[in-house]
Amino acid sequence: MSGTPHSTGKARALSARASGPLQGRADVPGDKSVSHRALILAAMCVGRTTIAGLLEADDVLNTAVAMRALGADVVRAASGTWVMHGVGVGGFAQPDAPLNFGNSGTGCRLSMGAVATTPISVRFDGDASLRRRPMERVLQPLSLFGATWESHETALLPLTLKGARSPIPIEYELPVASAQVKSALLLAALNAPGRTTIVERIPTRDHTERMLHAFGAGIRVEGNAISIVGEVELKPAHIAVPRDPSSAAFPLVAALIVPDSDVTIPGMMLNPGRTGLLTTLCEMGAKIAIENRRTAGGEDVGDVRARFSALKGVEVPPDRAPSMIDEYPILAIAAAFAEGRTTMRGVGELRVKESDRLAAIATGLRAIGVTATETKDSLVVEGRGGDVPGGGSIITDMDHRIAMSFLVAGLAARAVVAVDDATMIATSFPNFETLMKTL
Ligand code: S3P
Repeated sequence: MSGTPHSTGKARALSARASGPLQGRADVPGDKSVSHRALILAAMCVGRTTIAGLLEADDVLNTAVAMRALGADVVRAASGTWVMHGVGVGGFAQPDAPLNFGNSGTGCRLSMGAVATTPISVRFDGDASLRRRPMERVLQPLSLFGATWESHETALLPLTLKGARSPIPIEYELPVASAQVKSALLLAALNAPGRTTIVERIPTRDHTERMLHAFGAGIRVEGNAISIVGEVELKPAHIAVPRDPSSAAFPLVAALIVPDSDVTIPGMMLNPGRTGLLTTLCEMGAKIAIENRRTAGGEDVGDVRARFSALKGVEVPPDRAPSMIDEYPILAIAAAFAEGRTTMRGVGELRVKESDRLAAIATGLRAIGVTATETKDSLVVEGRGGDVPGGGSIITDMDHRIAMSFLVAGLAARAVVAVDDATMIATSFPNFETLMKTL
């Protein structure tokens, strides 16, 4: 990979060309979802919480800054090790400036939930990508607790959220499969008296539920109903953040498509709500082995080894989408290098991620010589069986995963693949370029 450095704040083009075999161990950073949740829950309990292996990427650092602005004591003790003293449930202070969540939907939406049942007024903002992402999905159910909000545009950032003075518990069935919305509501419920029940028809990642349990909240999961009793005192915890499967996906797929590669991701999180990509790649014929399965920090983890494989196209069922929602861009790259057609259905949510990912993937694939067709909520990729022309220039549209996916494609394509801006990679995987070069 080689890049053109620009001054801070400006786009930085980066390109990748055909690589020799990738070999060795990929120490990908800590999980982004778990990192956000650890900071927010530590801020909501009294006492000393320690977090090891925190993802120190822009998205998570913005959440840390936000928790500090809300009154928590947040200290970086060493690389990846953070020590926090929270303010207790209902104890957030009125911040004196807007909270800026940059590129992060998770940091923003979870924090909205966390403050929605405390009587403070908080201004939420983000970058141009976050400013176009829908907030109604979280604001509408938060209003059932008694929170109100004001914005110029309908439910778009920047907006001011006014937390409920006398919050009431709610019963709510999620209309979209979204762990962010579910988590926001569970965090709001912490300061509402009585029992809140959230029903999700399709299961999504359950890190919030697991972590609430670790912090001693009275949370119960029965079938598809999650209920929690509010106005409890959380107990401080020690959180060990496992390695992020959504970041691991990039070196993993790179190993599958670059001839003679053999890469291991040690200690990768294997929460069932996050393993849809592994399932799909195995169905495609990927040589993936999981060794040393264990639990760490309340999550399943294992060492995942991926070797160069002859992949074949598959049909990805719609009900698998929540367990691999962030992995479709890199799956599309694996599909481009597979023999035959890959069809991904039920993926309309990709249109409201950091970019319109269905459009970004399809356009990007065409730019590198791969036939791809999108509908409202599906994507079809015609695999080229290992012979991808490359040569294209990719518009990343402020999306870290689009940038990393197409750089991975460049490692195995015939001609160089360039992305227009690699700066957003720092939102989730700051050492991506260095790590890929090491491999
Ligand atoms: C996340 C949930 C997913 C995912 C995002 C992280 C989380 O979003 O895309 O990157 O940490 O809860 P949705 O819940 O909106 O699908």
